[in-house]
Amino acid sequence: MAVIAIVGSQWGDEGKGKIIDTLAEKADIVVRFSGGDNAGHTVINPYGEFRLHLIPSGIFYPQTTCIIGSGVVVNPAILLQEITEIQAYDVDVSRLILSDRAHLIMPYHILLDKAEEKRRGQAMIGTTCRGIGPAFADKAARIGIRAGDLLDDNSFYHHLKSVLDIKNEILTKIYNIAPVSLEKTYEQYRDYGKQLAPIIQETSTILHKGLANNDSILLEGAQGALLDLDFGTYPYVTSSSPLAGAGAVGSGLGPKEINHVIGVFKAYNTRVGEGPMPTELKGEFGDLMREKGHEYGATTARPRRCGWFDAVAARFSIQLNSCDATALTHLDVLDSLSTIKICTSYQVNREILNYFPSKASLLKQCQPIYEELPGWQTSTRNIHSFQQLPAKALAYIARLEELSGCPIKFISTGPRREQVIRR
Ligand code: GDP
Ligand code: IMO
Ligand code: MG
Repeated sequence: MAVIAIVGSQWGDEGKGKIIDTLAEKADIVVRFSGGDNAGHTVINPYGEFRLHLIPSGIFYPQTTCIIGSGVVVNPAILLQEITEIQAYDVDVSRLILSDRAHLIMPYHILLDKAEEKRRGQAMIGTTCRGIGPAFADKAARIGIRAGDLLDDNSFYHHLKSVLDIKNEILTKIYNIAPVSLEKTYEQYRDYGKQLAPIIQETSTILHKGLANNDSILLEGAQGALLDLDFGTYPYVTSSSPLAGAGAVGSGLGPKEINHVIGVFKAYNTRVGEGPMPTELKGEFGDLMREKGHEYGATTARPRRCGWFDAVAARFSIQLNSCDATALTHLDVLDSLSTIKICTSYQVNREILNYFPSKASLLKQCQPIYEELPGWQTSTRNIHSFQQLPAKALAYIARLEELSGCPIKFISTGPRREQVIRR
């Protein structure tokens, strides 16, 4: 069977949770491979409505093993809370596994994330303040604490003590914040460790056994390509890689094991947090889109910035991800519009750009050049076959395929599991 990576292809919140909840029906294993609880993946299915931050969106099927991979940074308090919350809806979480290599978000990561944002002032990134950046920084600096470390009290204590010696200097002397207590943190995380011990495992072996068994494996991306640490709008990015390539590294599969990549796109663009977004609509029209699409962050409830579909950025993320196909979500949000715009290139002064610039300062100057298409002005919400979509919606989809260079294989016309058209 296949290994399929499903990845965000804009600035996150494309509807990955919904698409994964739909496709996981036939999956044996679903792996979250990057990010942390900065992600908020909304799933609406017969069990109820959920905003998953860490648990893979395949958890709702009885046959699916769900792995939180080594590439994820995990706040154990959030994970335990999420487990309790979905258990209350009678969802069986007995197939949930946490990689022993996954790094942990510690209290000082959250304090530092907030303090660093405050210190940046006007230049703030608009992070989710969940401690993501500082946790990935510690991972790279080789002072991170991993889930598996919680299973050995003595070494965990000494490791925590040595890290806190440095972190408390920074918190107190640079940021003027009260230090983090060694004893309190040790006790708290020891307790988390006891609760999570049954699910902490070496997960790469499980995946390779799955491959040998011909299992169907979904790799669940978080965030979106334009938030990638290397290729996104740096420094207005997240601190891990949302790209399909990271699906191999963050799960423990080899890169050649990924057979198929599906990029998830909204039929327009949104972004939450700071950083350039050339097609952003700042006035009344942007507000209208936000209300129609209920565009408020699933993690922080912040209003999302809305704008037209950006085909320049789309081409770039399709290349970065080697997308074989795309899933186009939120088509219904455009249902009532009389005209719809697509950005086909950028203009800076007199120059036309057909590529996504690497410098955020240049991207900020980019003026979108639009092509305008007629809207279909009828509801697509309950349409279940491609041929039944209005002709003008079909023309919009065909144009997006042409401009972005990738076939659209799934079209989502509402937030619920069944509101999806497979082509
Ligand atoms: P994710 O982070 O990529 O999983 O996306 P989020 O869950 O953060 O944001 C997507 C939002 O759009 C959620 O509120 C979903 O319930 C909703 N949604 C997903 N697909 C569609 C769709 O096709 N149409 C509409 N109107 N809403 C959708
Ligand atoms: P999902 O998986 C949308 C954004 C934040 C901020 C930047 C850095 O739900 O699509 P961080 O807390 O990661 O250091 O913040 O990245 N961001 C997201 N935006 N969806 C997400 O995840 C995001 N995860 C992080 O808003 O701009
Ligand atoms: Mg989200």
